[in-house]
Amino acid sequence: MTAPEETLIPVDTESQRRLRESGLDYRIADMTDPADAEGFVRADARGFLDEEPTDKAVAQMLETMRLRRNIGVYDAAAGDLPVATVNSWITPMTVPGGEIDMWAISSVTVSGTHRRRGIARAMLEGELRSAASAGIAIAGLTVSEATIYGRYGFGSALPVARLSVDTTRAGWMGENVPGRLVYADRQTLADDLETLHEQSRTTRAGQIAGWPGRWQRMAGLAEGDKEAAAVRGIRYLDADGVVRGAMAYTLSEIPAVFRSELRIRTLQTTTDEALRALWQFVVQHDLVDRASVDLRPLDDPLPWLVADQRAVKTEVHDHGWLRVIDLPTALQAREYRAPLDVVLHVDDPLGFAAGSWRIRIGADGRAEVRATDGTADTADVRLGVIELSAIYAGGVRATQLAAAGRIHGAGETITAIDEAFRASAAPLLGIWY
Ligand SMILES: CC(C)(COP(=O)(O)OP(=O)(O)OC[C@H]1O[C@@H](n2cnc3c(N)ncnc32)[C@H](O)[C@@H]1OP(=O)(O)O)[C@@H](O)C(=O)NCCC(=O)NCCS
Repeated sequence: MTAPEETLIPVDTESQRRLRESGLDYRIADMTDPADAEGFVRADARGFLDEEPTDKAVAQMLETMRLRRNIGVYDAAAGDLPVATVNSWITPMTVPGGEIDMWAISSVTVSGTHRRRGIARAMLEGELRSAASAGIAIAGLTVSEATIYGRYGFGSALPVARLSVDTTRAGWMGENVPGRLVYADRQTLADDLETLHEQSRTTRAGQIAGWPGRWQRMAGLAEGDKEAAAVRGIRYLDADGVVRGAMAYTLSEIPAVFRSELRIRTLQTTTDEALRALWQFVVQHDLVDRASVDLRPLDDPLPWLVADQRAVKTEVHDHGWLRVIDLPTALQAREYRAPLDVVLHVDDPLGFAAGSWRIRIGADGRAEVRATDGTADTADVRLGVIELSAIYAGGVRATQLAAAGRIHGAGETITAIDEAFRASAAPLLGIWY
């Protein structure tokens, strides 16, 4: 497989200079060089506190890493592995009414021996400048800790739901759906998950394209996955025999009760019927007392499919973080639900989206954005790039951020922004990266 073009984008020279002053070499890891490639993967695993991967696991991880632009920070005095890692790739992200190219950032690690000396800052700023130079208007990531990325302008934009259901009391209420459920072997499961995600990702803002390694991992085909043996797969075929849903899950025994817990690794569907069929399978599963799943949209129908809504616990948590880089391009890439004519003043300590911007949204739902000479005092609304990024995909409400004192402006203007920006289906990011 040929590496995508973004892997050829050179490293940011400003970050390179800064790190060189500390005696560090910030460079693209050469994935055609076996030692460099393996060093990157092993440093990444060490940075995320994983066990030392086997050679087979390294080889498998490299299949995914080779699709990305991998940057290592090397300290000649600290051995062969990079002391810090980051990677990125350009992926389509669904936005209301369309798609935008997003600079996805992952593998952010700094080794325990080199922490808290500004390496992560140099790498993150370097990623944003590289994205800007490549003409990419927005960056995204998922986070290990919610306190790390605000300082670079990322806002929590795509909250998701973690659902758990007490199947002993839930009581299935949904209608029976036509079609049938069939167990799937792991390779079929991986293929189904990939196809179904690709078919459905355009229906919710925030979703990005997957990659083969992700679906293999979900299906229990990843080397070193301690739960792999427990992974099972089930697929739903509609009345015409077309696969409309697939689910990877594990069953584990609850000690001393001879009953089990069903953990859904991922659930991909392209129709409401498929989702109902798979939820019915879960809620009515014999010998199962409880079931859980993460990364579901906030409007998942599960509570309305059971007799006792209190059997379903919903925990909403941050998941997808976005960072607007090129404000006009990002705002013009999506559709809006209501007209708007407003001047926003955006604070952005890194400069990318800073300034005053007139945003006019017409009856067609499209925006026209241009820079204005105004100041924070003359603008209708003042907000930071974090808040702008948070509301961008329609998953976080401007009114909520205004209530938190994080967007400033007249109440009716904030409400108008809210009306324009919100998405119809709850935005979602169903992938960790
Ligand atoms: C998170 C991590 C990459 C930070 O690397 P680092 O080089 O030590 O960070 P820096 O020295 O550049 O610090 C940059 C800023 O982040 C802050 N910071 C660093 N780690 C942080 C953490 N875990 N939580 C909150 N803030 C953190 C620093 O205090 C500093 O703040 P400042 O800009 O206000 O001065 C590193 O701790 C790490 O590798 N952690 C384990 C892997 C991980 O969680 N990666 C993130 C994946 S999403």
